[in-house]
Amino acid sequence: MCGIVGYIGQLDAKEILLKGLEKLEYRGYDSAGIAVANEDGVHVFKEKGRIADLRAAVDQTVMSQAGIGHTRWATHGEPSRLNAHPHQSASGRFTLVHNGVIENYVQLTREYLQDVELKSDTDTEVVVQLIEQFVKGGLDTEEAFRQTLMLLKGSYAIALFDLENKGTIYVAKNKSPLLVGLGDTFNVVASDAMAMLQVTNEYVELMDKEMVIVTDKKVVIKNLDGELMSRASYIAELDASDIEKGTYPHYMLKEIDEQPLVMRKIIQTYQDENGKLSIPGDVAEAVAEADRVYIIACGTSYHAGLVGKQFIESWAKVPAEVHVASEFSYNMPLLSEKPLFIFISQSGETADSRAVLVQVKKLGHKALTITNVPGSTLSREADYTLLLNAGPEIAVASTKAYTAQIAVLAILAAVTAESRGKALGFDLVKELGIIGNAMEALCDQKDEMEMIAREYLTVTRNAFFIGRGLDYFVCLEGALKLKEISYIQAEGFAGGELKHGTIALIEDGTPVIALATQEHVNLSIRGNVKEVTARGANACVISLKGLEEADDRFVLPEVQPELAPLVSVIPLQLIAYYAALHRGCDVDKPRNLAKSVTVE
Ligand code: F6R
Repeated sequence: MCGIVGYIGQLDAKEILLKGLEKLEYRGYDSAGIAVANEDGVHVFKEKGRIADLRAAVDQTVMSQAGIGHTRWATHGEPSRLNAHPHQSASGRFTLVHNGVIENYVQLTREYLQDVELKSDTDTEVVVQLIEQFVKGGLDTEEAFRQTLMLLKGSYAIALFDLENKGTIYVAKNKSPLLVGLGDTFNVVASDAMAMLQVTNEYVELMDKEMVIVTDKKVVIKNLDGELMSRASYIAELDASDIEKGTYPHYMLKEIDEQPLVMRKIIQTYQDENGKLSIPGDVAEAVAEADRVYIIACGTSYHAGLVGKQFIESWAKVPAEVHVASEFSYNMPLLSEKPLFIFISQSGETADSRAVLVQVKKLGHKALTITNVPGSTLSREADYTLLLNAGPEIAVASTKAYTAQIAVLAILAAVTAESRGKALGFDLVKELGIIGNAMEALCDQKDEMEMIAREYLTVTRNAFFIGRGLDYFVCLEGALKLKEISYIQAEGFAGGELKHGTIALIEDGTPVIALATQEHVNLSIRGNVKEVTARGANACVISLKGLEEADDRFVLPEVQPELAPLVSVIPLQLIAYYAALHRGCDVDKPRNLAKSVTVE
């Protein structure tokens, strides 16, 4: 979702900004723009569509050593050139990019901007016009910026440029991510370290309600009371090659293939010197001492949470429940006396999850974040963090983060179980090793997956995924993968629920993908498959070795059944990938979606 870059230094700003925006493409966007300043003034270039379109529109003869750039994911106002950022004040003196949502923009317009003709439909334009109004009223730019920030309600990451002070970029943040990157002869601004890895790996985190004055030599951080804040920088542990596609046609395929490696990395990370599973700090104790665990997440991370809940309850014997973050904030259940909140988030920036974190911290409860991004907002604001170590996930559709989340939750549950004197009945390290090998075997069978996608999903308007127990949770994820990248309407259902309504949708040729990896419900799910085939469905059964039947379309390698979600999801990810490819969809950047959902 929206991305910001800024550069001030000695090199040509426009190329650095454009490259930075290309690195932010994965977040999802529908228009983009840059503004660069030189002795002739500020030059703004904006386009609806891809960065490639913006690049083509940029006048390559304009040289500049400072500028700001933006990818926009529309919230207020349709995706268009007009609504794309940067936005400028009426006189053209101020130029601004913004991520987030200004909730009180209508009220601010009414109170302060009655005489200003707004050019766009965005909430953002109000901010830049307000700054100009304050400057007209006699304030200098920094003070006008500060006064404006004090009036804003909602979320923002902002970079502001003042034509009369071309050596400075003014920056601020509240609830939306923003970093300042440091260099010897330059400084940069970015929503995400990946964007500016091309020039620096040294960054300074910004806290909410801080503003920063960035020049090529200095970075001055202040709070909104104008007090100076000091902050140490950190080195972003990212390898530039991690964020390249290499020889893969799509990031999604690369990330699916990385899953065996991620499994091995997770086993290594969470093992002590004796090869025993271990969790850093006192996280497992926090789970063990809780009288109930509340797992909060969105989308794919929520689906991983559903699987994780089973581990926590059945191995560690701690009651657990899973909630969609966006619902939890206004529909909070009666909490237990000693709850522990677990936030699962690949990006660590999801606004819906963060809203709940803020709420539960206010209530004085402990929180653990399981995330792929060290230093992300959800990680910083929770009491504990466990890292996924999955490497950057660029494709919008989450794949390796999902399996990494399940693996880390399994390890957390196992270590908690041990601390509570409960036996697991199997060696998790060994079983996760077997899972890694099974994942590799599955990733080697792409031709088969492509054939399944062709056979079942090329010409269909809908598809159903059915399963029972753990398989049901994986079906929810399989359906989400398929719908988000192929735009086929796909739904995951508990096998037993079909006859209570959904079966009415089954007609001749309807694809139904059924998972059968759980012995205790194998007969029942087989019965459900018979029910849908009797009504004309084109059923594709994916079963676990040992439970297979003659007509099954694909048999998964044998793994510990409770860990089966880690392998059964791989064919579903690959089938979704190929279905999207066959239908000519933009696999890595599906329409309307954003990787990092930073607005509520
Ligand atoms: C789907 C997908 C989303 C995310 C969701 C939460 O493929 O990626 O459903 O899982 O937006 O994002 P995080 O995990 O970053 O909080």
